[in-house]
Amino acid sequence: MMRGKFIAFEGGEGCGKSTQARMLADWLTAQGRDAVLTREPGGTPGAEAIRALLLEPPGTGWAARAEALLFAAARSDHVERLIAPALASGRWVISDRYLDSSRAYQGVAGGLDDHSIMALHEFGSGSLRPDLVFVLQAPEETLSARLAARDGDVSDAIGGRGAEFHRAVAEAFVAIAASDPQKYQRIDGVGSAEDVHKTVLRHLAPLLSECDGAA
Ligand code: TYD
Repeated sequence: MMRGKFIAFEGGEGCGKSTQARMLADWLTAQGRDAVLTREPGGTPGAEAIRALLLEPPGTGWAARAEALLFAAARSDHVERLIAPALASGRWVISDRYLDSSRAYQGVAGGLDDHSIMALHEFGSGSLRPDLVFVLQAPEETLSARLAARDGDVSDAIGGRGAEFHRAVAEAFVAIAASDPQKYQRIDGVGSAEDVHKTVLRHLAPLLSECDGAA
C-alpha cells in the first residue's frame, strides 16, 4: 500500500486557508481519492480539548513556553492518532494549519527560537512534515476587512493579538516558505476562492502524478 500524501495550508488569520483546505479535500474526494480534512489545533478529541484551552485560556492566559508545549501536545495526539494512521493506510490528509503555524506564531512572533519548536516537534510527532505546504498570503488591509466581516469584534486569544504580532507572523511565513521552495508554495489569497483553488490544483499536479505513477 502506498503511503498517502500530506498537505498543509498555512497563513495568517483571514487568508482563506480553511476554505481552500475544504475545497481541496472535496475535490480529491470527487476524484475518487480517499481524503481526510482536519485542522490544528485539533483533529482528535484530545487535541480539540487542548484547542479550547489555547483559544480561550483560563485566567490571564498562557506563558509563551506553556503555549508552545500545548500546541505541540495537541499536534502529537493529532499525528499519532489521526494523521500517521491515515497516511499509512494510503489516505490523503489535508490539514488546516500544522507545524509552521507554531514556528510563525510561537516562534518568530512569540519570541521562542525555531530550534526549540523543532525539538518539541521531534519529541511529540517524530518530526513528521507535510509533502507540500500551501502558504496563503494577502495584504494586511484585505485580511483585516475579511476578519471584521467574519468575526466582528469577537476574536480568540491568539487571533486577537495586535497588528505588530500578525505582521511578524506574516513575515515568518514568507521566510519559512523561502527556506524550501520545493516543499512550500506561496499562493496569492486575493481573488475568488475558485481562482485560488485552481492555483492550488496546478501546484498539486506533480504529487498527483507521483501517486498515479506508483499505483
Ligand atoms: P483558528 O480559529 O483555527 O484560526 P484561523 O481561522 O485563523 O486558522 O485558530 C487557530 C489559532 O491558533 C490561530 O490564531 C493560529 C493559532 N495557532 C498557533 O498560534 N500555533 C499553532 O501551532 C497553531 C496550529 C495555531
